[in-house]
Amino acid sequence: MNQAREVLRCLARTVSGFTIYASGHPTRERALDELLHAVADLQEAAPGATFTFLDDEIVFGVHPLRGMGEWPWAERFSRVGVQRVEFVGPVDRDDLMHFVDDLARRLRRGRAESSEARVTRPTGIRYGLVHRDGLDDGDEEGGGLHLAPVDVDLVLEAETVRWLETELRGGGLLHLAEAEGVVFALLQAMHGGREMLLPLTRLKEFDQYTTAHSLNVSVLAMALAEQMGLGGAQVRSFGVSGLLHDLGKTRIPTEVLNKPGALSDAERTLIHSHTVEGAKLILEHDADLDLAAIVAYEHHRRTDGGGYPTFRIDRRCHDASDLVHVCDVYDALRTHRPYRDAWPHARVMNYIVEGGGGEFDPDVVRAFVDMMDRCTRADTRVDPDPGPAAPPPVDGDGEVNSRID
Ligand SMILES: [Fe+2]
Ligand SMILES: [Fe+2]
Repeated sequence: MNQAREVLRCLARTVSGFTIYASGHPTRERALDELLHAVADLQEAAPGATFTFLDDEIVFGVHPLRGMGEWPWAERFSRVGVQRVEFVGPVDRDDLMHFVDDLARRLRRGRAESSEARVTRPTGIRYGLVHRDGLDDGDEEGGGLHLAPVDVDLVLEAETVRWLETELRGGGLLHLAEAEGVVFALLQAMHGGREMLLPLTRLKEFDQYTTAHSLNVSVLAMALAEQMGLGGAQVRSFGVSGLLHDLGKTRIPTEVLNKPGALSDAERTLIHSHTVEGAKLILEHDADLDLAAIVAYEHHRRTDGGGYPTFRIDRRCHDASDLVHVCDVYDALRTHRPYRDAWPHARVMNYIVEGGGGEFDPDVVRAFVDMMDRCTRADTRVDPDPGPAAPPPVDGDGEVNSRID
């Protein structure tokens, strides 16, 4: 049922908003308002609605809820002791705020509260632990369901990425759950309608290049991975790798990253170090993110052996790095820099096609061209948006810049 899916989608966004923002922040308040509306719609359609999260399975009422893909929040909620959520009576904004606040707090702590199903205060929402008895005998909901079309609104996702970067700059943790949540939201934005969309972000909406760039590379990497026939889990891990590929830039002083004009050799060396630093950073925080670490390390390597960093032993890059490399260059060239305008879509595509077999893996280039052919019609932002006249902040990523200057 679409109202149930919408409640879960809004709930995930609101929990992310509560993790990042203090009370009163407009993004957080807006997410809460959307959740309130979604819950009201659901209660009208299905009074007494009940969700059960059993590891990664979602049960709505007594039926498994299909059409959410592999929704990562079900397992997370379940792990912190919120295995069931029941909307048993009227729910107001305060009820929801307390519920989401508690959920976000549990997720931050990473563990369940001590008690069984609990009510934090008299409210129309009950939630807590459940037992499996009687819950796994329902019929499956009918097949062929699709998610309702979603607005391609990535403000919260962009702010989440910005928050992740700020945390790391301040010496904080890499918040993997939030990064995965962003990737899931991007996938929903891509596949929410009948046609696949490329929800690409341009600078007129987000003032920080690296944030928009990270989101775009994640979207492009997932679309390209799908085009190349990869399955859901791999697509998501490519999405996380795309999202985190430039994470090492959080270790580089912003005055170097934002320096307009030519870089000195020392500055260029420092900027090139974002590959090695990114890989280290990712592995320090989560050893399981080895693919993201490899991509962070290799994404500026060319297929013909050029680029950086230098390998001690001549070897090929991981396929994921070759894939992210093309997406990275596409988005960089489509973006305004102080020393050149954004290139039109067609010009960037020519550049990528000509680079097949030299800078880029030819198979990846072919798939990228096919993917763009398939998506351009549906993507209103791929072309021909010239973007703002004023130069945006510079990312300082010297490799692409020097190649085309
Ligand atoms: Fe990079
Ligand atoms: Fe990049």
